[in-house]
Amino acid sequence: CRRHLMRGGVRNTVRAMMDSVPPPTPDAVLFDAYGTLFDVYSVGLAAEQLWPGRGDALALLWRDKQIDYTRLCSMSGRYRPFWDLTRAGLRFAAQKLGLPLDRAAEDRLMNEYRHLSAFPENREVLQALAQRGVRAGILSNGDPEMLAVAVRSAGLQDLLNPVLSAHGVQRFKTDAAVYQLGPQALGLPAKKILFVSSNGWDAIGATWFGYTTLWVNRAGAPLEQLDTTPTRTAGNLRAVLDFFPAS
Ligand code: LAC
Repeated sequence: CRRHLMRGGVRNTVRAMMDSVPPPTPDAVLFDAYGTLFDVYSVGLAAEQLWPGRGDALALLWRDKQIDYTRLCSMSGRYRPFWDLTRAGLRFAAQKLGLPLDRAAEDRLMNEYRHLSAFPENREVLQALAQRGVRAGILSNGDPEMLAVAVRSAGLQDLLNPVLSAHGVQRFKTDAAVYQLGPQALGLPAKKILFVSSNGWDAIGATWFGYTTLWVNRAGAPLEQLDTTPTRTAGNLRAVLDFFPAS
């Protein structure tokens, strides 16, 4: 037990030392979309109205199943657009929880997913990046159409360019082919790009690929136990600006 405590102590000291080192200075930023810029759990509110007391459970399982399906399809070479897998995930989650999902309820929830709310700090962070001359875009599993609608409904179309979609390579994260879209589009090595995600697994996948990474751990989730730490971890998107001090 004592040895354990000591090991934990060393680990904490190393982490504290790493956090006191100034962050690297990338040249551009790529954001994950769902969960990072757009609040996927906001669909829970609509689900709660349909099935009082079960909205959160539905939203959580829906999200998990959606991501599960991306991995299943990607690994088996059976790509289907994220929109279709989102619908498939919803159908599974409703069945699993014993919630009656008729056509009207499905359409309502899918429509909600199409127009997700953006997190409140997004606009000021994106505007500050633009003011500092930093290019900011999206790199997402979402297909181009759903990403375009989400960006437009959040009114962020002038602040995000490029919007890169996994659809182009017919694979999903964490396949390297998807992460490679960033360096290819921006003409920068991965290390010079800050990849920002709220999904712990995505932050780890991007770190493995070679990006400088920020994990926006909004939910206070534990770090993925895979012996890899994102470059930085923070509670909201504002931490992006620490990488680009205003001159
Ligand atoms: C995305 C999912 C993983 O936007 O959130 O890529």
